[in-house]
Amino acid sequence: MTIDQRKIEKKVLNNGYAMPSIGMGTFGSDKYNADTVAAAVYGAIKCGYRMFDCASVYGNEAEIGKVFRRAFEEGLVKREDLYIVSKVWNDMHGDGDVLLSCAKTLKDLGLGYLDMYYIHWPVPNFHPPRCDVSSRSKDAVPFSVDRYMATWRQMERLVDAGLTRSIGMSNMTVSKLEAVLPLCRIVPAALELELHPAFQQKELFEYTLSKGIVPVGFCPIGSPSRPERDKTPEDVADCELPSIVRAAEARGIHPALVCLKWAFQSGAVPIPFAVTESKYVGNLKCITEDFLTAEEMAEIAKDDKDCRLVKGQVFLWEGAEGWEELWR
Ligand SMILES: NC(=O)c1ccc[n+]([C@@H]2O[C@H](COP(=O)([O-])OP(=O)(O)OC[C@H]3O[C@@H](n4cnc5c(N)ncnc54)[C@H](OP(=O)(O)O)[C@@H]3O)[C@@H](O)[C@H]2O)c1
Repeated sequence: MTIDQRKIEKKVLNNGYAMPSIGMGTFGSDKYNADTVAAAVYGAIKCGYRMFDCASVYGNEAEIGKVFRRAFEEGLVKREDLYIVSKVWNDMHGDGDVLLSCAKTLKDLGLGYLDMYYIHWPVPNFHPPRCDVSSRSKDAVPFSVDRYMATWRQMERLVDAGLTRSIGMSNMTVSKLEAVLPLCRIVPAALELELHPAFQQKELFEYTLSKGIVPVGFCPIGSPSRPERDKTPEDVADCELPSIVRAAEARGIHPALVCLKWAFQSGAVPIPFAVTESKYVGNLKCITEDFLTAEEMAEIAKDDKDCRLVKGQVFLWEGAEGWEELWR
């Protein structure tokens, strides 16, 4: 099934470029390998997705790049039809490293420019792939405005050089944004934040909108397939929230689709991940029809559980009290 492009709204960014109102995530967690994710990207292009949320740390940009080339060669889409996103990983914040990272991503994805490039995390702290949440890097440091801005200056130069059309931030907080936004020569066009019915981040969400920055919501379904090591007993399943189940039952649809409608109707750009065709087609289609009522939106607003799933424990520095410190 192909979804009519005219039905997929676009958001005009603060720099005049337009971003589709939904994208596909490409983080396979520990569950899906690079080829499986790339095959889903190919299927998603065919059914009408135009935005893809990539990142170097997801370890699959080369495979996804092959799929983009195939789609161009087959005439499915042209480069300018797609909105391709990537992110600089925490180990590449150093002077000159952002350019190197962007160049590697462009080579892997087989592109001449990106549509959006984010700073993935506001700290330069990293960890070995698939490590346990108790793992700590001895070089890890707390957030620093000076360090962050040194990385942002490199991001701004990527725009100047035409390597990316827009730049954005991710995993930020209101206080961090308040500190860095006044210092930006190029203000971020978008902010990636964790956003799902059980974690609505209302203050950050409203702040982002008030600054003319588009909120892009990750884990929009509550990341049910995230690795076991990233789950805690307190975590709430979005698809089991009473307001979500009620709205799903009223329509005879999966609760995941209610989560996506909620994000879209709230003014965010959700980036759901799925490798099963019926799921990713349904995810795209659901933001074009059968919208939630104002009453249903109000019920979901009341079901916020302040339940952060991506806590970032592995990025903590020596002396940090707990993961909450990352989010101050
Ligand atoms: N900026 C950041 O730091 C950051 C952090 C996390 C994620 N992200 C981005 O956000 C994307 C999405 O987050 P996520 O992948 O963690 O979580 P998610 O999109 O909330 O959940 C994805 C999972 O939901 C299930 N699902 C998807 N569509 C469904 C449907 N229609 N019906 C039933 N189940 C459905 C699938 O489970 P099955 O696998 O069982 O089918 C899928 O693996 C990532 O891929 C990544 O691109 C960014």
